Amino acid sequence: MSIEADQIYDIIGPEGFKSLVAGFYERVAADDVLRPIYPEEDLAPAERRLRLFLQQYFGGPNTYSIERGHPRLRARHMPFKIDQAARDRWMQHMGASLDEQDFPDEVKAIMRDYFEQGTTFLMNHHPAEGGMFTTKRENN
Ligand code: HEM
Repeated sequence: MSIEADQIYDIIGPEGFKSLVAGFYERVAADDVLRPIYPEEDLAPAERRLRLFLQQYFGGPNTYSIERGHPRLRARHMPFKIDQAARDRWMQHMGASLDEQDFPDEVKAIMRDYFEQGTTFLMNHHPAEGGMFTTKRENN
């Protein structure tokens, strides 16, 4: 049997997303690289936004878009400096939370793949490019 990403909500349900995202934010709260990047003192609203977005992406209700509009995730992440280190920490914590979940292996594989690609796509700070494509003044 092979499943598609938009069937995942029916398989793991709202509780699955809740548990995945809670496990992730527990780790973010204790992370010296990531915690300072999250602007709000209270992580609960950010946790809710991520949960609603993921539910929607993986075939659940579109509450996220009703509340927040089109996701435009790359644009929404621009205010935050996401370099390789931040990207890797994010992936590490989401991967660890995913490992703990009682989801079918195929679900875990699809979600892991999505996060691997999504986190790379959301990087917006690539110091290695500086030398060739930006002036010295911009190279930071
Ligand atoms: C596939 C990977 C990712 C997804 C699906 C994702 C998704 C989201 C969503 C849906 C929001 C809320 C947007 C809104 O409605 O305003 C958000 C906010 C945010 N994301 Fe991500 N993100 C990802 C990766 C990352 C990475 C790698 C970082 C690195 C630091 C990051 C940092 C943040 C920060 C700081 C916020 C603001 C918190 C808030 O107020 O919601 N995200 N992300």
